[in-house]
Amino acid sequence: MTIMTQVKDIQDGSVPFPITDPERIPVQRYYDETFYKAETERLWPHVWQMACRLEQIPNAGDWIEYKILEKSIIIMHAAKGIKAFHNACRHRGVPITEGKAHGSCENEGFTCPFHGWRWNIEGQNTFVYGKQKFSERQLDKADLALKTCRVEIWGACAFINLDDNAPSLLDSIGPLAQRLEAHGLSNLRAEWCYATTLPANWKIAMEAFMEGYHVMKTHPQLQRTLPGLYNSMYAFNMQDTGGVGLPTNPYLTGRENVKAQVKHLELLSEGMAGMVHAKEIEIAKELLEVELPEDPMLAVQTWYGIFQDQITKRLSAKGEPVPDLNAVAVSDPIHAVEFIFPHYFLLPMFTSMSAYRIRPLGPESCYFEIWSLTPSAPGQEPPVVMAPIELPYDSKDFPAIPQQDYSNIPIQQKGVHAQGFEFMRLAENVEGLISNYERIIDGYLGGVDAQKLAKAQHLLGGNFDGKIVDLGF
Ligand code: FES
Ligand SMILES: [Fe+2]
Repeated sequence: MTIMTQVKDIQDGSVPFPITDPERIPVQRYYDETFYKAETERLWPHVWQMACRLEQIPNAGDWIEYKILEKSIIIMHAAKGIKAFHNACRHRGVPITEGKAHGSCENEGFTCPFHGWRWNIEGQNTFVYGKQKFSERQLDKADLALKTCRVEIWGACAFINLDDNAPSLLDSIGPLAQRLEAHGLSNLRAEWCYATTLPANWKIAMEAFMEGYHVMKTHPQLQRTLPGLYNSMYAFNMQDTGGVGLPTNPYLTGRENVKAQVKHLELLSEGMAGMVHAKEIEIAKELLEVELPEDPMLAVQTWYGIFQDQITKRLSAKGEPVPDLNAVAVSDPIHAVEFIFPHYFLLPMFTSMSAYRIRPLGPESCYFEIWSLTPSAPGQEPPVVMAPIELPYDSKDFPAIPQQDYSNIPIQQKGVHAQGFEFMRLAENVEGLISNYERIIDGYLGGVDAQKLAKAQHLLGGNFDGKIVDLGF
C-alpha cells in the first residue's frame, strides 16, 4: 500500500486521532469529545449540506428551517429564487421563526417574537419598533438585513454552506452531479420521509452504507435469493461461503436466473421503497416469460435490457419524466449508493431512488432521515412531505432493510468502546470508501486547501464497494 495520508498538507498535531494507515481508522474518532468538537469547528462550517427539498418551498414566501449542530438556517423562496438566512433577529438574536419548522409568509414576512421587529421575504428589515430610541449607527439598513447564508441548488434540493470562501457546490460534488442528473434526479419527488434518532456517531451510521459486504449477514434474504451475485462479489469462491449465506447453484437455467433476479428486486422494493419502485416491480413481473437466450448469463443480461426499455417506455407513456434507462446506463454509469459529502447519499437503481441524510446530534447520537423519491406525471405528484414521520430506531414500521441496518448501528457504537479495540480494520478493496471519506474529514480538520478537498470529494463518486485511493493530499 503506497497511499499516504496525514502527509505534507496536514500540520502535525492539528487532527486528533489522525489516520496514519489508510486501512486502519482510529476508533476514538467515533466517540471522542475532542474529535467531535474538531468536526463541529472545522468540518461542518465548511461543507455543502443538503438543507431541504425544493418542492417543500414551491411559492414565494414559503420557507423551511434547516438545523445543523447549534445553527438554524431559514431556506426562503424569495421573489427571484432561493435565499438562505441565519435565523437570528438583528436586535438581540432571538430566532425569528417563532419555534415553527416551516411556513409561508409572502406578505407579512417575519416578526421577531421579542420586541416585534420585522423583515420581508428578501431579508430586508421593514420595521423597528420605537426607532427613535436607537442611535443612528445602530439602524444602518444593510446591517439590519438578515444575515444571508450561501445557498445553491442541485438535484431538486437546496444546499447551504456556512463558508463564504468554499468552492461552489458543483465544484465540490464533481462529475457525479451530472451523472445523477442524467438519471433524472431533479425530476424526482418525495413520496415519504421517515426519521429516527440513533444512539451512534454520525460516521458509524454513514459508513454502514458504504459497502455491500455486510449484505450476507445483515440482509440474508437478499443473498439467499441471488447467492451467485453476492458470492461473485464477496465470497472466497462461488461454493465456499464459509457458512455466511448460501453457495451458488450452478445449475440454474436462464429463466430461473431471471426469476431469482425479479424476486431480489421485489425484496429490495419491499425493503427500501424508492430504491426499486413498486411500479417497476409490476413491469418486471409482466416480463417473466419474455423470450430469452439459453445461456444463463446472457439470459439475465438480455432480460435487463428488455426490462429497462419497458420501464422507460411504459412510464414515459404515462407522462412520467424518466430517462432512457438503457442509454444512461452506458453514458452515465452510477453505483448502487452514491455519496454527496458529508452527509447525504442516494441509492439509484432504475427511475426512482432512496435518499438518506445523517446529522450529528452529539459524539454518540445522530438524526437519520430516509426519503423515497420517484418521478410523477405532471399533476400527479404525491402530497408534499414537509416533515419526516419520526419513529424509534427499533420500530417495526421502518421498511425491512433499514430495520436490519438499524439493528447493527447502535450495538456497533457500544462495541467501539471495548478495551483493546483500537481501529476499524478495513478491507482495502471493498471498504475503501470508508477510508477515503475519513481521510477527507482529516483534510478538513487539518486545514488542507479547499480546492484540494473539493477535488478529493470527486473521488467518492462511484466508489461504493471501492478501493482506497490517493486523495492528492
Ligand atoms: S430580539 Fe428581536 S426584536 Fe428584539
Ligand atoms: Fe444495509
